[in-house]
Amino acid sequence: MSSVAHDRVPARARLLVVDDEEPQRVMLANILGRAGFAVVTAADGREALARLAEGRFDALLTDQRMPGMDGLELLEGARRIQRGLPTVLMTAYGTVSTAVEAMKRGAADYLTKPFERDELMVVIEKVLRQRRLEDEVVSLRGALRERYRLDNLVGASPGMQEVFALIERVSATDVPVLISGESGTGKELVARAIHQNSHRAAGPFVALNCAAVPESLLESEFFGHERGAFTGAVRTHSGRFEQADGGTLFLDEIGAMRVDLQAKLLRALQEGEIQRLGATAPRKVDVRILAATCEDLEQSIRKRTFREDLYYRLNVVPIELPPLRERPEDLSLLVDHFVTRAASKFGRGAISVAPEVLDRLQRHVWPGNVRELENCIERMVVLTRERRLTLRDVPPAVGRSAAGGASGLDGFELPLDGVRLPDLERHLIQQALGRARGSLGPAARLLGLSD
Ligand SMILES: Nc1ncnc2c1ncn2[C@@H]1O[C@H](COP(=O)(O)OP(=O)(O)OP(=O)(O)O)[C@@H](O)[C@H]1O
Ligand SMILES: [Mg+2]
Repeated sequence: MSSVAHDRVPARARLLVVDDEEPQRVMLANILGRAGFAVVTAADGREALARLAEGRFDALLTDQRMPGMDGLELLEGARRIQRGLPTVLMTAYGTVSTAVEAMKRGAADYLTKPFERDELMVVIEKVLRQRRLEDEVVSLRGALRERYRLDNLVGASPGMQEVFALIERVSATDVPVLISGESGTGKELVARAIHQNSHRAAGPFVALNCAAVPESLLESEFFGHERGAFTGAVRTHSGRFEQADGGTLFLDEIGAMRVDLQAKLLRALQEGEIQRLGATAPRKVDVRILAATCEDLEQSIRKRTFREDLYYRLNVVPIELPPLRERPEDLSLLVDHFVTRAASKFGRGAISVAPEVLDRLQRHVWPGNVRELENCIERMVVLTRERRLTLRDVPPAVGRSAAGGASGLDGFELPLDGVRLPDLERHLIQQALGRARGSLGPAARLLGLSD
């Protein structure tokens, strides 16, 4: 009596049954109800859409021929309300073309009337099973994303996991964030992720690189100007601040900003308003500020090139991106990510990576961090003709700068005239200390002095 299908579907899957003929509707509801489903019925398309808007269903079973809205139209409307809802169309015997059309338009399956009870159960069971699999894939994907990626950022190292957690926490707020890290560590990507995950995501994300705009133009770039505010100001110009209204303003290389402008920025942050050059009144703006720097701003404060009050204002939540060499766990994940991306960007099929290649990449110090790795991978993918990257594809300079191991100096020639060994040694030590941010242990390792 109880069908096989019944045991395999979730106990109370919710089905919406739509048929304009009452006896048919009641019969279907009875069969499906007895099989353990929660069944809701509707007599036409309009009523069905109303039911769909009220709650989630696991599948829709609808007659094709109905007055008003037919089954195919209902299928389209239903999809707009509940994405991914599997729909089974009931068509009359002999209307194969409608059934084909239904499948083309995304129906999960169809039943040709008249059909047997068992036929009905098999089809319903099949679409529900498929639906469950799809749900599982979506939630698995969600779980993966949670672990190793956030938007376009990937990373499994504890350092990056901490960065992900911070991004999630600050995204829910409007506090300023100061993102620091060496060049190419992903500062801009972090800023974009914060914006994307915040309530401002639908608003603009405006980036301004303070080091790239000539000093004389920075203020107007920032706050805008009225026509005639200065020679050359032929028309009114809204600054980046105003362009970012309702969204996020990303101030890149904030350390390069002139001190007098820093004072104006601080005022804008404190009062939530800005004044265009040449304007008589200030304007309100609603902007979230994210700033990035690869300089040590505390040192800039000591040198009086950065205002301490602005620093504390911006640095409410600091996010520090570790250099790539300090998170070797991330390398293979990043390589996979970039190989896949480059392969699709250049219209190539899947490309795999030989383990020796990963070893070689692991030995490189990556002074240009993730950006350098990304460029390196793109180059390898573009140049190879094979479907697998091997050592032959790795640029010769990569993996030679390794700490420890071979000297890395093979083939490296210095112009010897005038070089003094003690000077060279001092220079190397200073360089290693710089790269290790003054920590002796890592600097010694970089120089091969300890293991
Ligand atoms: N964790 C990461 N996952 C994936 N891609 C990354 C990651 N970090 C950086 N990238 C990529 O590396 C490149 C450099 O990143 P980004 O521009 O954000 O760095 P940056 O710190 O702003 O560099 P700079 O200081 O030179 O401006 C970008 O193409 C970015 O997509
Ligand atoms: Mg950047």
